[in-house]
Amino acid sequence: SRFVSSQLLNTVSKNGKQFSTSAKNKARVAVAGASGGIGQPLSLLLKQSPLVSELSLYDIVHAPGVAADLSHIETKAKVTGYNGNEQMADAFKNVDIVVIPAGVPRKPGMTRDDLFNTNASIVASIVKAVGENSPKAFIAIISNPVNSTVPIAAEVLKKLGVYDPKRLFGVTTLDIVRANTFIAEAKGLDPATTHVPVIGGHSGVTIIPVISQAKPSVSFPQPELDKLTVRIQEAGTEVVKAKAGAGSATLSMAYAGAKFTFSLAKALHGESNVQEISYIESDVVPGVKYFSSPIILGKNGVEKNLGLGTLSDFEKKLLETAIPELQKNIKKGEEFVAKS
Ligand code: NAI
Repeated sequence: SRFVSSQLLNTVSKNGKQFSTSAKNKARVAVAGASGGIGQPLSLLLKQSPLVSELSLYDIVHAPGVAADLSHIETKAKVTGYNGNEQMADAFKNVDIVVIPAGVPRKPGMTRDDLFNTNASIVASIVKAVGENSPKAFIAIISNPVNSTVPIAAEVLKKLGVYDPKRLFGVTTLDIVRANTFIAEAKGLDPATTHVPVIGGHSGVTIIPVISQAKPSVSFPQPELDKLTVRIQEAGTEVVKAKAGAGSATLSMAYAGAKFTFSLAKALHGESNVQEISYIESDVVPGVKYFSSPIILGKNGVEKNLGLGTLSDFEKKLLETAIPELQKNIKKGEEFVAKS
């Protein structure tokens, strides 16, 4: 059966704080690209969580090793590794959530769109296997370029006849995590309780920080606002440069990916008012088919799109700049599937 038991599991954590989690309130999560720079620390964070009952690790290399390693950690989640194409179907059978950080990352000088040729087919093949084996699963896509890989996933699922726009998510959480951190630093706030929405897409000018809606409320002189906005938009490139050829953000992305996955798991099991920001099929900006904005999650995925809220004139200009780029990225993804 889908859920092992509804029996209460009482757990005492190492710091002595007691919490209980119902066994049925646990999600079976698959990670595709589990052996990678993001996949490994993401899987580690998921293995540590009481929200996860099973962890299915898929990659084209090293998945059994990563799984064996993580399986020794003293938490309940059962970890299984699946290696290569022949095991892909099994990896995605009976799962509730699939997180996809499979594919190549950027090297200095590259844009996210430069990854399209390699990652488009990787994402398409994984999503096809998910659609065939767990058509109801929530799918969270980390692989870049997110602006295009989400439309690719949607088109692949449409071909299979199992597309549900409420269950497909592009993970932009790292942009929000970065905005929270940078704005908190600039104002001497606690980053953990600073909330800065970031909307639009996940590359360069399509990343739209909405600092006017930050909580707590903050304000900056225009030159500083310009600088902070560009820093949030280019934060990924900051890491790519610092890593000097060794890849892009992996640890902060694993943190952000786990945070988003936990929200999906909570919503799936009936927690109310779970709020996130994600790149999804959307009608909040006319003519832009996929757009990231604040959403409420529920058992069936996206329950409500909270839209853009009130934007400042500066943010409206950022949106104007983002629109044609987003449209181009979305079209490129859709055409890739139409041609293949
Ligand atoms: P990585 O190269 O360290 O790991 C990628 C993993 O994917 C490798 O283990 C590789 O074997 C695996 N892989 C390749 N083809 C596969 C296939 N067909 N099926 C299953 N697994 C496959 O790369 P990293 O640093 O983990 O980045 C992964 C992706 O995440 C990149 O596309 C990167 O651009 C993206 N990314 C997205 C962010 C976001 O905010 N959404 C932030 C940072 C990175």
